[in-house]
Amino acid sequence: MLNNFNEAVYDIKKVFGEKLPKTCVVLGSGFSKFTEFMTEKKELPYGEISGFPLSTVPGHSGKLILGCINEIPVLAFSGRFHYYEGYTMKQIAFPVRVMKLLGVENYIVTNASGGINEDYRAGDLVLISDHIKFFDDSPLRGKNLDTFGVRFPDMTHAYHRELIETAKKAAGEIGVDLKEGVYAFMSGPSFETPAEIRALRALGADMVGMSTVPEVICANHMGMKVLGISCVCNLAAGILDQPLTHEEVIAAGEHAAEKSVALLTRIIEKIENR
Ligand code: HPA
Repeated sequence: MLNNFNEAVYDIKKVFGEKLPKTCVVLGSGFSKFTEFMTEKKELPYGEISGFPLSTVPGHSGKLILGCINEIPVLAFSGRFHYYEGYTMKQIAFPVRVMKLLGVENYIVTNASGGINEDYRAGDLVLISDHIKFFDDSPLRGKNLDTFGVRFPDMTHAYHRELIETAKKAAGEIGVDLKEGVYAFMSGPSFETPAEIRALRALGADMVGMSTVPEVICANHMGMKVLGISCVCNLAAGILDQPLTHEEVIAAGEHAAEKSVALLTRIIEKIENR
């Protein structure tokens, strides 16, 4: 198993070099424009990294990008793997393991979500303070990889307190309204029913989405510092009396892109200059 990870590390270092950034960012819907602002870019398609899952969408394989944002080196995942696409949780966790072996310490995840909290509006940015994932598989199921972490990892601070404070300060500095809430993972690909959304609200969730949590569990297993930012792209099922569509999610993400990218950039600057 470790050999697989090491092969991926080898493939990445061959193209990107030995010295890699301490921060990586996974770009979810609405955050992908971040790469347009990166300079000195080197790109590596996922298909050229041993062991990386192969994309289920032809032509949208995704790539790992090394570059700078305002002169700060960063690794960016352009395109991510979702459970609903048919990957196993372990496949989804594979790139996270590889980041750890490359020396990455700060794992920033971004995503699009549906707003459950009725104070939220489409286009809001929300810091993920905690998550709920009751069902489905776990990326840690099966024999524990002791070299990475313990059998029963603590998840009390799955989203790193210091990084959360840094993100709040960053938002304040650039005048972006940043809310804070609990993200519920649902495996999709169907959107939730109104009854499921009412249940999730009663359980304490502020937003819902189909990504992020498997990666965050794995990153915590390895002691990485995680920061999660969600762009609320629609109000969750049943809040408005209208059907949900993927197109509406994409459009809202694009609409919020400018502030999403500005926030992400300032956060990375602050993390590096702490
Ligand atoms: N539900 C689940 N995932 C989502 C949603 C939603 O309403 N919006 C964006 N991703």
